[in-house]
Amino acid sequence: MSAATGRRPDGGGVGHLLGIDGMDRSDVEEILDLTDTFAEIGRRPIPKVPALRGRTVATVFFEGSTRTRMSFEAAARRLSADTVSFSAGTSSLSKGESIRDTVEVVSSYGADLLVVRHSMAGTAHRVAGWTDLSVVNAGDGCHEHPTQALLDCYTVRERRGSLDGMRIAIVGDIRNSRVARSNVLAFTALGAEVVLVAPATLLPPSILGWPVTVAHELDPILGDIDALYLLRIQSERITEGLIPSLREYASDFCLTASRVARMRSDALVLHPGPTNRGVEISAEAASDHRSVILDQVVNGVSVRMAVLFLLLGSGRQLGAVDAGPQWRVDLEHRVV
Ligand code: NCD
Repeated sequence: MSAATGRRPDGGGVGHLLGIDGMDRSDVEEILDLTDTFAEIGRRPIPKVPALRGRTVATVFFEGSTRTRMSFEAAARRLSADTVSFSAGTSSLSKGESIRDTVEVVSSYGADLLVVRHSMAGTAHRVAGWTDLSVVNAGDGCHEHPTQALLDCYTVRERRGSLDGMRIAIVGDIRNSRVARSNVLAFTALGAEVVLVAPATLLPPSILGWPVTVAHELDPILGDIDALYLLRIQSERITEGLIPSLREYASDFCLTASRVARMRSDALVLHPGPTNRGVEISAEAASDHRSVILDQVVNGVSVRMAVLFLLLGSGRQLGAVDAGPQWRVDLEHRVV
């Protein structure tokens, strides 16, 4: 039994995946190994198995999504689970209904597992405390997005065999990115070295304790890294002028054709999507042979199959259940 993940010895109960926080190397590797099995199922002429027949997965998205929601729903269908779906835009939220009431309504449709996305850090943790269903965090504000990190690790491992000793640069709006937080934890758990590349205003107020180094310029490190992970400027979360202009940001940090050509030939380019072409990545760089952006999308389904299977099939807890002291303080001051 892993103390870090609080796994139940009898395999019973209800488990959640709320963050990479609390997972060690073997926890991450176990999910990636299981993903290999589901990737193989995805390559069959009929990519479907009866593993979760009779179970229902609900996607509860209070914030926009293309890839993550479609990927969870595809994963559930490949496992023969039923799906129900809630979208904030077309719901009674606009009529004043609370998150808690919304979750209760969705749960009452017979769901076994809720996939939750919200713009506020800690929402998935809160929801896990309200229901006796499994909860998967599909992105909570700028806190965590664990399945994105798992599919990114899977994509890198698929190409390179192992992340051990790799130097991975995460570039862009790290301050507002849940993907960056989950990926720093997952990449380093698998033995990679992470360098954050951003202007000082796009770094979190404190990175004390983060297992990373920092660079403020992209050009000097381009030839010296094994993978470049690009992030979108999260305009929806930026409340002050953190960059002079998108044009100025792009001139220093956009991965253009000439910049990608200076990377090692076997280096990888990743992006969680959606991409803002011409801001953090050019069309040419996105289609360069180093780019594995489409592999990330494909692998997202297999990784999420593994996560749904582990949670619903075994009731296991994946990662910590607590949002951590820093986020708990933040949450206690907000009304949901
Ligand atoms: C990311 C997200 O929503 O956090 N996208 C995703 O899940 N594929 C990154 C982003 O929105 O920039």
